[in-house]
Amino acid sequence: MCGIVGYIGKKPAAPLLLHGLSKLEYRGYDSAGIALAQPGHLTVYKSVGRLQVLFDQVSGGEELPQTVGIGHTRWATHGKPSDENSHPHLSLHGRFAVVHNGIIENYAQLKKELQENGVAFRSETDTEVVAQLLEKHDSEDMLRTVQNTVKELVGSYALGILNAAQPDEIFAVRRASPLIVGVARHGYFIASDIPAILPHTRRFIPLADGEIARLRRGEITVWDEAGKVVEKPVQEVTWDISSAEKGGYKHFMIKEIMEQPDALAATISPRINDKNEIVLDGIHLTEEELKSIRRIAIVACGSAYHAGVVGKYLIEKLTRIPVEVDIASEFRYRDPLIDKHSLVIIISQSGETADTLAALREAKARGARVLSVVNVVGSSIAAESDDVLYTWAGPEISVATTKAYSTQLTMLYLIGFYIAEKLGTLTREEVLSLLHELKRLPDQLRGILGLAPQLKQLAQRYAYLEHAFFIGRNLDYAVALEASLKLKEISYIHSEAYAAGELKHGTISLIEDGTFVVALACSPDTVEKTLSNMKEVKARGAEVLLLTTEEHRQLAEEADHTIYLPRVHPLLTASVEIVPLQLFGYYVALARRCDIDKPRNLAKSVTVE
Ligand code: G6P
Repeated sequence: MCGIVGYIGKKPAAPLLLHGLSKLEYRGYDSAGIALAQPGHLTVYKSVGRLQVLFDQVSGGEELPQTVGIGHTRWATHGKPSDENSHPHLSLHGRFAVVHNGIIENYAQLKKELQENGVAFRSETDTEVVAQLLEKHDSEDMLRTVQNTVKELVGSYALGILNAAQPDEIFAVRRASPLIVGVARHGYFIASDIPAILPHTRRFIPLADGEIARLRRGEITVWDEAGKVVEKPVQEVTWDISSAEKGGYKHFMIKEIMEQPDALAATISPRINDKNEIVLDGIHLTEEELKSIRRIAIVACGSAYHAGVVGKYLIEKLTRIPVEVDIASEFRYRDPLIDKHSLVIIISQSGETADTLAALREAKARGARVLSVVNVVGSSIAAESDDVLYTWAGPEISVATTKAYSTQLTMLYLIGFYIAEKLGTLTREEVLSLLHELKRLPDQLRGILGLAPQLKQLAQRYAYLEHAFFIGRNLDYAVALEASLKLKEISYIHSEAYAAGELKHGTISLIEDGTFVVALACSPDTVEKTLSNMKEVKARGAEVLLLTTEEHRQLAEEADHTIYLPRVHPLLTASVEIVPLQLFGYYVALARRCDIDKPRNLAKSVTVE
């Protein structure tokens, strides 16, 4: 996830681009850059670090006269944050400059082919192949050059393109990454999101998938995928600036909940190739090394630890290697039984959590191989791990994690399938069927997000609770831990997650008339057992919200409210089960008027012990 802008008009472009980028920093802030066009020459200014560094480098852009340019703020995916990896990227002879948001999935293959033809690359990014391909297809007709270039690309991309030979135009392309054209009195813009254009205009044209736009002074032309000119109506923004930054949502948390289908797709799709093989680019473990693993330890904090609890059930079941899961602050001080035959999987959204980083160092000191699952590219945990797999969730701003947690689950599924196939505990056919199910998850999540109005209503009814309990068994219990934390951390309601079978050993004494209990019953092996536990709490006066799948409709009659979820593979239930409970937590906190994105006493990245 990155932010792109472009401007062509009557005013100097640089200050407008910089201001536009400042409104897109929520999409990433590892580095920033701009490219400005003048006849026969493109000038690039770029720098690693926050936008302010670039701003200082060009003194706010006030002295730069060019009136055509593109800009970028980066959230690193391919290649660490550095000056070289910053956008815009120039082609070999500087004829084209490109800014890109998205992932070019076939970039390695394209890069290899270009290199074999003598093209020297300057960066480690996937984006640079786009600049080099434009030069390869360079022709008198810029539209054809762009069309021939995008024909070679697989993946997601919003692109802004400058051509030194035609400095009075900007080309923009959109596929599976957001992009709009802004229509102001003094000129035209392209932008990843509306806030970037709002100071200048409320009028915009949303581009559809596969469309190519050309912006000239006083003229906007849009072609569809087939190369036909399309008439695009101009729309009007009705939001104010602050809600526009949140994509029209009231809080980042709900925006990030809603982004989960796309985040999952971004994490999954580059990891499964055309032959349906799992490609874990960040794992360098050989088959020999995998076979020598005697135990796996998953270590993390907070929600990342809860993702790890799901990982334990799953990886152990699939690989038959003993897996333990531990909280990083416990692991680091308990003299863990870890050696060179251990694989330690570290999970962290930020890659900077102090206890998790210390646990990683402890594991390495004991000779273990460390594989990390991290969202922030170039973070400390990523840098110190032997192998790194990135969850491409994009920047997460709300303190309570949602999309990062969901992509961590996805990455753990892929790791489980990958190791199991290598060790032969899963056959190719079994892996194929699991991958088929995995690829369906983003769409299934889209369907579940449609339950938002129902959950909002329910949340209003339970907004003034003092206590809540979440119960489940096995994978359902793992999700109960996360669902309970979500409710607790943003609504300040006291909440506990319990293994359903353990209730009767003490906690059931807290159940009385009106106690709120959420029962999670989606794991087919334990559904009936959990439903019995649900009846036990009902018999003592509890009000129960049940989550289960359609086929258990008749068993659900005992519950006060039921949320039915689509049937997914039994190993993947956590991904669908958590979403309604994130929504429930959000709407309860909303009804209680809590500071949802910044709950009291909490921080997004905990860099102290
Ligand atoms: C904080 C955040 C949690 C997160 C935990 C671990 O407590 O509020 O959402 O799960 O840290 O953070 P990490 O960045 O390591 O995933």
